Amino acid sequence: MSKERFYVSTPIYYPSDHPHIGHAYTTTVADSLARWHRFVGRDVYFVTGSDEHGQKIQRAAMTKNVTPQAYVDEIVASFKALWEKLHIEYDDFVRTTEPRHHRAVQTVFKRIYDQGDIYKDSYSGWYCTPCETFWVENRLIDGNCPDCSRSVELVEEESYFFKLSKYSSRLLAYIEEHPEFIQPESRRKEMVNFIKSGLEDLCVSRTTFDWGIPVPIDEGHVIYVWFDALTNYITALGYPEETELMEQFWPADLHLVGKEIMRFHTIIWPIILMALDLPLPKTVFGHGWLLFDSDKMSKSKGNVVDPLILIDDFGVDPIRYFLMREISFGQDGNFSRRALIERTNADLANDLGNLLNRTLSMLDRYFDGIVPQPDKNNEIDQAIIDFANNLATSVDALLKDYKLNDALAAIWQLVGRANKYVDERAPWNLAKLDDKSELGTVMYNLLEVLRIVALLVKSFLPETGDAIWNQLGLNDIESQDFSQVTWGHLNPGIQTAKGDPIFPRIDVEEEMEVESQVKTEKSKSKVEPKKEEKAPEGVVIGIEDFAKVQLAVAEILEAGPIEGADRLLKLQIDLGNEKRQLVAGIAKHYAPNELIGRRIVVVTNLKPAKLRGELSEGMLLAATSPDGKLEIVTVSNAIPAGSRVS
Ligand code: MSP
Repeated sequence: MSKERFYVSTPIYYPSDHPHIGHAYTTTVADSLARWHRFVGRDVYFVTGSDEHGQKIQRAAMTKNVTPQAYVDEIVASFKALWEKLHIEYDDFVRTTEPRHHRAVQTVFKRIYDQGDIYKDSYSGWYCTPCETFWVENRLIDGNCPDCSRSVELVEEESYFFKLSKYSSRLLAYIEEHPEFIQPESRRKEMVNFIKSGLEDLCVSRTTFDWGIPVPIDEGHVIYVWFDALTNYITALGYPEETELMEQFWPADLHLVGKEIMRFHTIIWPIILMALDLPLPKTVFGHGWLLFDSDKMSKSKGNVVDPLILIDDFGVDPIRYFLMREISFGQDGNFSRRALIERTNADLANDLGNLLNRTLSMLDRYFDGIVPQPDKNNEIDQAIIDFANNLATSVDALLKDYKLNDALAAIWQLVGRANKYVDERAPWNLAKLDDKSELGTVMYNLLEVLRIVALLVKSFLPETGDAIWNQLGLNDIESQDFSQVTWGHLNPGIQTAKGDPIFPRIDVEEEMEVESQVKTEKSKSKVEPKKEEKAPEGVVIGIEDFAKVQLAVAEILEAGPIEGADRLLKLQIDLGNEKRQLVAGIAKHYAPNELIGRRIVVVTNLKPAKLRGELSEGMLLAATSPDGKLEIVTVSNAIPAGSRVS
């Protein structure tokens, strides 16, 4: 029997701006699935890339006065850097400006043209440049793009058209016969309704700008950017050559996309494939959006979350875990730092981290850190063994159905059971017995659970899998195959190596206090009222309200850390006629010595507070972006300490 295989793709992202947490979401999910299937022993191909042509990119480059190529080169580098930081292990990264992709796209266009499914006409209709989408008048909502609500432009130009309408009933029949093709179910219904409402032939070339792949039979036209972009999924396999990759991996198993681009992937792309006589991908899965405080992230709202800052603050695995566990796969979900911290503390620090820590501490105490020989198992032991022994197969079945949250929940069920097992079997009582065989059995079982957990989590949380493995004193987790995820592969006699906690608890209140202390940028009054008294958005205050707040310039004389509070710094400041101490949540953003001598703006009549036992007599002003990037407000040295700010 030939080896099972798994071809997974992400959308190829527009390098019109730097990547944000939404891009990281899709890519992390795809990476975890790819890693999992590789681990199970399947042949995997994982493709991502960048969608570099089109009017949107050309315009973005023009505003920066650089060529489109120079513009995208810089941003593509930042996508690749993020993927590296997030441990994304793709097999191919397709850039649509690469010659191999030009060849593939022009071949697709020419083949479809030669068989009569592309024809020349003239187009008159609407175009949304941010979405790179054509719209007929009756689909607009209030005259705007129905997808993004932004304004559309009237386009009138000679164009080539692709006969979507000709394939409409064939596509509907295909969708009907292949329920797994469009997932989740709710999106399938949406797409079916869209097709049933009537498909117009699609405009597949443009003449009013030139940043694209030329139409092979008519050089005055460039190929429509979505026709170009969708082809990347076969470019990656070497199309139009009849390559081994094409043979082995086409049709793709999974195109993972955000819900807003389902239409392109479940209507245009399958019809292109039908016209080429190529099989259709097995599944297009449209996941939901990551929202920020229940609102769509967008640059204009200033609420776009930068994953690099999150990685610096929390590390890679908490972010990967949060995205895959907290957000219901297929539905919209909320991102917030508080939710991220709470998830990390509960599942990673308390449940998993603690299990590792307490197990290895007990092992150090009772067996000098050496894995003991197990003896007879009782009923309680056997129950956890059976659960652990069958878990890998259940996780695999869940992941084959794209039940990502359930798969992680199942692994954490084992972690939870193991913590409970410690309490039930109370090794500290068994240690009092002369015969240590029962204690040895219990400790062995706990270590074996941890070994299995390390193997199960490593596809989702690569650093955590490694860290557990290393503390268990084992070598080379990468060489482990799926057969090792069954019970009993841990060898007695191994010297373990207990290390620092793998997920130190994050002090959520400190973190939130820090955020509310410094969040001033958005407040028009320059005052951050106490949380419970926050002025409602849009409500104006009188000058007399503002006058209650005394602001003054202060010079920072000294700055230093506070023990046990890694986000706080203690500052000694000079206010002209007095010196004070401030505690500020800026330790992650400034080294103490860069602060000395700076002139900052301080609220001087704020009620003093104690933070981590240190008196804080005032509050400095700073601006924070939604993802936590922070800059303190400063004035030049021309303004003496003590000057009033108004
Ligand atoms: N270039 C097209 C895709 C072409 S694929 C042949 C495109 N690019 S994009 O840069 O706009 O990326 C869109 C994708 O990024 C979404 O489909 C989704 O995978 C991901 N996300 C972007 N923002 C997102 C959220 N706020 N939440 C979740 N995913 C989001 O469309």
